[in-house]
Amino acid sequence: MKKTSLSLAVAGVMLAAGAHAAPDWSKVPKRDIQVFHAGVTSIEWAMKKSDHSGRTGLVKGETCVGCHEEKGGLNFDMKRMAGKDLEPVGTPKTMSFPVSLQAAYDKDSAYIRLTFKAPEGGANKDDKENAVKATVLFANDKVAVAAGDKSVPGAQVGCWATCHSDARTMPGADDKKTKYTKDGAYELMQWQSAKGAKAVDGSVSDKRQMDGGTAGVKAEGDNKGGTYTVTFTRKLNGALGEGKTVPFGFAIHADHATGRFHHVSMGYTLGFGADGDIKAVKQ
Ligand code: HEC
Repeated sequence: MKKTSLSLAVAGVMLAAGAHAAPDWSKVPKRDIQVFHAGVTSIEWAMKKSDHSGRTGLVKGETCVGCHEEKGGLNFDMKRMAGKDLEPVGTPKTMSFPVSLQAAYDKDSAYIRLTFKAPEGGANKDDKENAVKATVLFANDKVAVAAGDKSVPGAQVGCWATCHSDARTMPGADDKKTKYTKDGAYELMQWQSAKGAKAVDGSVSDKRQMDGGTAGVKAEGDNKGGTYTVTFTRKLNGALGEGKTVPFGFAIHADHATGRFHHVSMGYTLGFGADGDIKAVKQ
């Protein structure tokens, strides 16, 4: 009798310590989301009416997705995106590509899986160690962008709230300055393709931190003939939780790209037992 209760206790401790079963991905629907090379279209650019007429709609409450996603594709003028104004350095050969997203959760953890073909032909290949990186940002409910006397919530602007004209790799900007927010914070997780690379559990607030997060992020990725499958596991804590709708966005650095030379998604919402553009499946 004693022995049984002891082993039960051990099993309980193991569960509590986070020995999670991976979700059954065959039961989790896929949503294809286009990522694109956004050039130097910072938040300052998006919020300046003479550069971007979308500003008016943003202030009224419309989202980037609401105006720019059509039938699962993007309606950007890619010629303009590739022009010197929006991309002074050079464009990748592939301006946009689809990423298939799946999301699941259980009592303790959230699971996010990204599947994509990482295109070659990048304009910047300064990351010698990593051919590919995948990053997901979750916004807390304080992320906002000032717009005159108004404030636009993070759920509308996605990761653009972190993307400033004075951040590194933007034209003429400080090489030390990273992504940051003026209000609120994002939880950041990243997978890097270099052998033995550790998953990043970080944050973006007044500066970007590539460690110090409390989400216990784990990331696994593999590359089968050019198709990458990256699976993140993290705690259902912080910005995430049952009953919450969380704004999020993601980025792929393909072909050894650094800094802004990534392909990014616009901002979407992820619901955990709540509404969202994507609803995480409870398992
Ligand atoms: C109310 C609708 C609306 C919203 C909301 C909106 N845009 Fe736009 N956006 C436009 C229109 C219209 C254009 C094309 C003409 C222009 O730039 O004014 C445009 C142009 C762009 C371009 C340049 C490529 C092109 O097709 O000219 C980018 C990049 C862009 N938007 C990104 C964003 C991002 C990022 C957000 C969210 C932070 C956003 N937009 C929100 C309407 C919108």
